[in-house]
Amino acid sequence: MLPNLVELHYMNSIDDFKEKIKRLSRKEVQDFIIENLNEDITRLILKGSPFEDISIKDIAIQIESKLKIKKKLPTWFNADSVIYPPKLNLEQTSSEITANHKSKIIDKNSKVLDITGGFGVDDFYFSKRAKQVTHIELNDELSLISKYNFEILGVSNIFSVNGNGIDYLKNSTKTYDWIYIDPSRRNEGKKVIQLENSLPNIIENYKIFEEHCRQLMIKTSPMYDLNMGFKELKGIREVQIICIKNEVKEILWLIDWREFNYKNIKIYNYKTSNQFSKFEGNKNEEIQLNTEFSLPLKYLYEPNSGIMKSGLFNTLSVKYNLKKIDLNSNIFTSNEKIDEFPGKIFKFIQIIKTKDLKKKFKSSGVNLISRNYGMATLEIQKKYKLKTSGKIEYLIFTKINKTRIIIYCQRLFD
Ligand SMILES: C[S@@+](CC[C@H](N)C(=O)[O-])C[C@H]1O[C@@H](n2cnc3c(N)ncnc32)[C@H](O)[C@@H]1O
Repeated sequence: MLPNLVELHYMNSIDDFKEKIKRLSRKEVQDFIIENLNEDITRLILKGSPFEDISIKDIAIQIESKLKIKKKLPTWFNADSVIYPPKLNLEQTSSEITANHKSKIIDKNSKVLDITGGFGVDDFYFSKRAKQVTHIELNDELSLISKYNFEILGVSNIFSVNGNGIDYLKNSTKTYDWIYIDPSRRNEGKKVIQLENSLPNIIENYKIFEEHCRQLMIKTSPMYDLNMGFKELKGIREVQIICIKNEVKEILWLIDWREFNYKNIKIYNYKTSNQFSKFEGNKNEEIQLNTEFSLPLKYLYEPNSGIMKSGLFNTLSVKYNLKKIDLNSNIFTSNEKIDEFPGKIFKFIQIIKTKDLKKKFKSSGVNLISRNYGMATLEIQKKYKLKTSGKIEYLIFTKINKTRIIIYCQRLFD
C-alpha cells in the first residue's frame, strides 16, 4: 500500500533531518564549530555560513547548545562529532553527576525502559550497568539526535524508539526490571512542577506502569512538594534528594509495587563527581523525635538545601546532638565541632546590634543569611548599606523567641 500524504511528508522530513545530521557531522563542519566556540554568535551569524549545504542558523544552534552543556555534560562536550538539539531541549537533561548516581540505583544486567528519553543522558549511564535500555522519545529530531550520539559515544545496548512512551506501553505485553520517567516539566510553553501537569501525566497513567515493571523511578522537579508525593504516589520504597554543591537538582521516587508507602528519605550532596555526603531518615520517625533549644553556643550549623527540603530536622539534631536556636529558623548549635555535618559550619563570634553593623563591617564585606527575620537579604543589605563580598564573615539575621537578633559568625571550611 502507498503511504498517505501526511506519512509521506513525515518520512521526507525525517530523511531530511538524517541528511542534516550527516552534513553537520562532517569533519570540516565540526572543526569550524570548535574553532568558533568562543566567537560572538551574532557576528558569526552575520558573516554567514562557509558551507553551501549548511545554514549558519544550524551551525549557531550547535555552538550555543555545545556551550550550554560544557559543565553539565563533559563527556558529550569532549566527544568528537556529537550533534545537539536546540538549547531548549537541553534545559531539562540530567547532569552527568546525577545520571551516574541514578545508574547505581538500578540492578546490574537489568532491563530498563525510559519512556521520556530526551537527549539520552540518563540512558547513557543506565546502559553502563543495564543489559538493555530502551529509549523512547516523542520528538522526532531529538530521537534521531540521541540515537546518532549513542553510536558516536560507542554505546551498543540502547534501543531507540521514536514515539509516545505511554502508547508504547499500552501496545506492549513486555515487562521491565525498571521503568524510568523524567517527564517534561514544560507544558504548552509554561514551566510546571506538579506531576499531573508534566508530560506525560504520571498520575493518570500510574496503573500502566505497574503492569509493565517491577520497579519504577520517577524524577521530579526540586520544587515538587514531598508531602504531595507521599499522597499521590503508591508503593514508595524511598525518596532520594540529589544535590550538587548544596543545590537540590533532582528528587527521585523509587517505587516498588510490593512496598507499602515508606517515608524513607536519603539526601546526597555531591561536592565533585565522586565525592558526596549522605544523610538519611524517615518522615514517620521524624515526628516522634524532639529537638532541644539553646542560645548560640560555640558553633552554629546550617543544614544543606537537601536536608532543608527533606524537613528531617529532628533526625539531624538527634544524630549530631545539636540544639536549635529557635523553633522557626533551622539554625542549629553545639559546643562541639562536628566536621562531618552535612551543611555549613560556623564559629560563633557575638551577637551584634543593628547600630554597630556599619561601624563593624564598614570596610570589609560580609555574607548575609536571613532566616525568619522578616526581611530578604537584599533588603537587609540595602537598609544597612552592607558590602556582601566577604569570604568567611557571616551575619545571620534571625529571631529567637520572636525577637530579632543578628548573629556574627565565621564560616569554617572543610
Ligand atoms: C526532561 S526530558 C528527559 C531528559 C532525559 N532524562 C535526559 O537526561 O536527557 C523529557 C522528554 O520527554 C519527552 N516526552 C514527553 N512526553 C513524552 C511521551 N508521552 N512519550 C515519549 N517522550 C515524551 C519530551 O519530548 C522530552 O524530550
